[in-house]
Amino acid sequence: MPGMNCATCHQGANADSTGVPGAENWHLAPLSMKWQDVNDKILSSAEICRSLTDRSKNQNLDAAGLLKHHQVEPLVQWAFQPGRSRDGTARSLPPLTHDEFVAATRTWVDAGTPCPQNP
Ligand code: HEC
Repeated sequence: MPGMNCATCHQGANADSTGVPGAENWHLAPLSMKWQDVNDKILSSAEICRSLTDRSKNQNLDAAGLLKHHQVEPLVQWAFQPGRSRDGTARSLPPLTHDEFVAATRTWVDAGTPCPQNP
């Protein structure tokens, strides 16, 4: 429904007074980038890695494009500065900094974006 577009409520930055998080171009990940199946079962690292590196699914990003996406995409950056909920509780952060995330991505890209072999 048009009235339920994410950007109806989510703006270009976190709205601290209301707790509504925001970033430029706020949206869900595309279905081709799903991380769980229809039964909510979390996909394996190998399955997610294959999707990430499949240019027919990842909006045609090559390895350099994946690295840039992790460096500059506002929605990726938002995850590291998610702000506070309306009740003042800080949203949880990833277990590493954005710089560490980009460095880990660079290591993976430099290695040729290998994926785990198992399922
Ligand atoms: C009708 C208004 C509205 C719409 C439409 C809406 N949201 Fe939200 N969303 C909110 C509000 C309000 C919060 C903050 C809730 C809180 O933290 O108390 C929120 C929080 C979130 C959060 C943070 C959740 C957390 O764990 O703190 C995410 C992620 C999110 N929305 C994604 C989306 C996406 C993606 C869409 C579109 C598919 C969307 N929202 C559509 C109102 C909306």
